[in-house]
Amino acid sequence: MNIVFLGPPGSGKGTQAVRLAKDLNITHLSTGDVLREAVKQGTDLGKQAEGYMTRGELVPDDLIIGLIEAKVASGELKNGFILDGFPRTMPQAESLSKMFDKNQISLDKAILLKVGDDEIMKRLKGRAQQEGRADDTEDVIKNRLEVYRQQTQPIEDYYRGRSILVDVQGEDTMDNVYKAVLEAAK
Ligand code: AP5
Repeated sequence: MNIVFLGPPGSGKGTQAVRLAKDLNITHLSTGDVLREAVKQGTDLGKQAEGYMTRGELVPDDLIIGLIEAKVASGELKNGFILDGFPRTMPQAESLSKMFDKNQISLDKAILLKVGDDEIMKRLKGRAQQEGRADDTEDVIKNRLEVYRQQTQPIEDYYRGRSILVDVQGEDTMDNVYKAVLEAAK
């Protein structure tokens, strides 16, 4: 099963993707997690990405596409995967399609978690108090939402046009959302 998770910041992509990947025994790849680890380790990628992440902007496409190309080439994704946080721009989505065509990989589903802005603000402010993520401040959350609308939302139509997009109501308990995600992945 090869799946892409879409949805605004705080919609529950990470929460649901971890659980689904475990149950389906497939690889979970979160570009946000990879980038945060790179920042923590102080790698070149981390140094280049940090400023964008702190401001709630997207890291440049070439950096992030290179990262995914390396994962595809490594064979890490060959037994099934969930991409969480990628693609996030039309150039990323188009590059991913080319990479998959070249490597004879097919994308089965794009699962879109739908959550309203008020709920997102509540969740991410709650997480800020517990985890202190640098991009979970009110102004940066607002910017991330705007960036999602402008740069990522067009991808929803891209996958809808390919008939693999499934909408999931993400504003419910984590367990109920998971039931809907499982259904969407069938
Ligand atoms: P990334 O880490 O992908 O952040 P994001 O998309 O903003 O997503 P979040 O991790 O904030 O939310 P989520 O949807 O995973 O929700 P979660 O399950 O965590 O990216 C961070 C940055 O990295 C980007 O801004 C960008 O700079 C860069 N980046 C990453 N990928 C990139 C790319 N492809 N191109 C360019 N730049 C890229 O849940 C959120 C909170 O809500 C948690 O506290 C959770 O416990 C809670 N929660 C979850 N579900 C529920 C529920 N049903 N009810 C109540 N609370 C819930």
